[in-house]
Amino acid sequence: MFRLILPSIALLLIICSNRHSAVVSAIGFSIVGYIATDWLIPRVGQSFVKIGLYGKDQSKPGKPVIPESVGAVSATVYLLVMFLCIPFMFYKYMVTTTPGGGIRGASIEENGDLTGNLFPHGKLSEYLSSILCLESTSLLGIADDLFDLRWRHKFFLPAIGAIPLLIVYYVDFGATHVLVPTFVQPWVKMTNIDLGWMYYAYMVSMTIFCPNSINILAGINGLEVGQSIVLGILALINDALYLAMGPNASWESHRFSAVIILPFLGVSAALWKWNRWPAKVFVGDTYCYFAGMVFAVVGILGHFSKTMLLLFLPQIFNFVYSCPQLFNLVPCPRHRLPRFNDADWLLYPSRANLKDEPPKAFFKPILRVLHKLKLIDLEFEGDKIVSCTNMTLINLALVWFGPMREDKLCNLLLVLQFFIGIAAILTRHALGLLLFGHDNLWAIV
Ligand code: UD1
Ligand code: MG
Repeated sequence: MFRLILPSIALLLIICSNRHSAVVSAIGFSIVGYIATDWLIPRVGQSFVKIGLYGKDQSKPGKPVIPESVGAVSATVYLLVMFLCIPFMFYKYMVTTTPGGGIRGASIEENGDLTGNLFPHGKLSEYLSSILCLESTSLLGIADDLFDLRWRHKFFLPAIGAIPLLIVYYVDFGATHVLVPTFVQPWVKMTNIDLGWMYYAYMVSMTIFCPNSINILAGINGLEVGQSIVLGILALINDALYLAMGPNASWESHRFSAVIILPFLGVSAALWKWNRWPAKVFVGDTYCYFAGMVFAVVGILGHFSKTMLLLFLPQIFNFVYSCPQLFNLVPCPRHRLPRFNDADWLLYPSRANLKDEPPKAFFKPILRVLHKLKLIDLEFEGDKIVSCTNMTLINLALVWFGPMREDKLCNLLLVLQFFIGIAAILTRHALGLLLFGHDNLWAIV
């Protein structure tokens, strides 16, 4: 009985809403995405293992082998669902304004006359360029999972995948200026600064940062997909605020954002069911890149890329904190995930061995300061540093709060992500009002 309820709701939402609301049909498609992903994962898992796509769950006794890269299922279902979405998203324009039959560039008016084209080609190209960008990012993720690409090779590839996105941004919106705070305006004598090409460089950096930052805040069951779900919910809350209280001008972009995120949440929820502790599958780099790019896409084409970055504060912290290891000032082991203790099933901070591979000499005093500030834990032999905890937010949580079971640690990090995100959204709108004299959310209030 229950098995029939969800598909029926999905069908109802899709069929009944297509004339009115793209967001409601996206909810329907998100349920379709959930059902399809949840149905597929247990059925294809063993095929992944057969072709060598498996990984050892490092934080379980005996390190059991489970399918890896199963996020590819979520990404594939998402893309197919988004293709299916197209006729429903644009149905109302197709039936009311497009005469079809090869009469291009014309639309039907209510009295039956043909006039100039009203079909929203701009919206369709936004939608298609997003799918194209997500498709190429998923391909990059699959290639990485299959061939374990080198960092220097895979680092800049998302930026190439984002070219269609940036072209559409340039043609459709093209804004490259940032507002100057009111109290600075009398000094610089301008209300905004045009960043020009630097704004495009910023957006390109975002397409590189978002996918990679999710991939390096990883290593405990459920965290990659869990943080993506929390980020998706936060972005939806921001969209809902604009749709409920924002000016009409912002509705289109936030509707677009919701339409992209809702099906993403559907396929991610199904993946979370199989990846949460104790994990039955790993999501793989495919999912991390794909999920990160979803946020870059909605940030850029939804025109709230700066707010989106605020939601990524924990990932930004994790990246900055990781820099000494990422740039080899301190040795970086292949895996920095916490150390599992068989005896009590708890996770302890993992450590980098500095005895055999000492850190750069100039960095040693900085390590001592970080230790004093309780931002890392150093181990000494006499006065000599012999090891330090790996510099990830996951290990830092263990340094601060003590050893923890894997699921508790994951939940703690997800709750942290959620509340930081909520605080970021509130601060962003309160500060907008304070710094610029108005905020685009309160524009009509
Ligand atoms: C990134 C991190 C690495 C971390 C890894 C965990 C950096 C620079 N790299 O590397 O430190 O160890 O992610 O995903 O920060 N695994 C588990 N439990 C999990 C998830 C993963 O044991 O819940 C292990 C499994 O052995 C799995 C492997 O991690 O096979 C996947 O690692 P991979 O995604 O290939 O690592 P990277 O993304 O290169
Ligand atoms: Mg990874």
